[in-house]
Amino acid sequence: MNPEFWQAKWRANEIGFHQNEIHPLLSAHWPANALANARVLVPLCGKSHDLVWLQERGFSVVGFELSEIAVAALFAENALSPQVTILEYFKCYATAGITIYCGDFFSATLDLCGTFDAIYDRAALIALEPAQRDVYLAAVRRLCPVGTRGLLITVEYPEGLVLPPPFSLTSTEVAKRYGEWCKVTLLAQRESDVKGKSALEKAYDFVVES
Ligand SMILES: C[S@@+](CC[C@H](N)C(=O)[O-])C[C@H]1O[C@@H](n2cnc3c(N)ncnc32)[C@H](O)[C@@H]1O
Repeated sequence: MNPEFWQAKWRANEIGFHQNEIHPLLSAHWPANALANARVLVPLCGKSHDLVWLQERGFSVVGFELSEIAVAALFAENALSPQVTILEYFKCYATAGITIYCGDFFSATLDLCGTFDAIYDRAALIALEPAQRDVYLAAVRRLCPVGTRGLLITVEYPEGLVLPPPFSLTSTEVAKRYGEWCKVTLLAQRESDVKGKSALEKAYDFVVES
């Protein structure tokens, strides 16, 4: 999907991916004890309530989001007043415990935002067309050194069931994409609604090994 696709979705408020609740696979499977005070990368974060859930548990949360509508809504809806600065290609919104870089995640560099201890990916990788997966994972790898722990949430459905995004991502594809540089473990799966159809939502734990 190109940036204009997402900007148009936010302008039209067509944000069916946004959840009013904390994601149940996050609250059930986030390895909080192993990650005390960790700096957590949340790519393609939207205005997810999961950002605040992580921040409230003492994590330092750094999100990336293209849409300024989403970023402004995140802070306004949570009654937070961020400081706004321009950093390279990004407009950076920062408040205690939550920083959001508004711009294209694919342009993120170590010099810009430093490294991370953990990453939370819900509806980020699967928001992207298969042809964009390499560039997305290259950006993740730039920012996540050996030892970084991740929680990845995907959906799986038969081809043609719904018009993506989200794109179906099989466990075989996850093993292929992450297995070369991470230890990946399937933690849980559950039935989930995707655009009115029943799909399988899966949560994976991964630890960067190279
Ligand atoms: C499917 S939504 C998921 C949002 C969030 N993770 C959630 O769980 O609600 C994907 C989000 O990624 C944003 N996005 C898409 N491409 C992006 C990019 N290259 N850089 C930063 N954000 C992007 C979109 O604007 C959209 O808000």
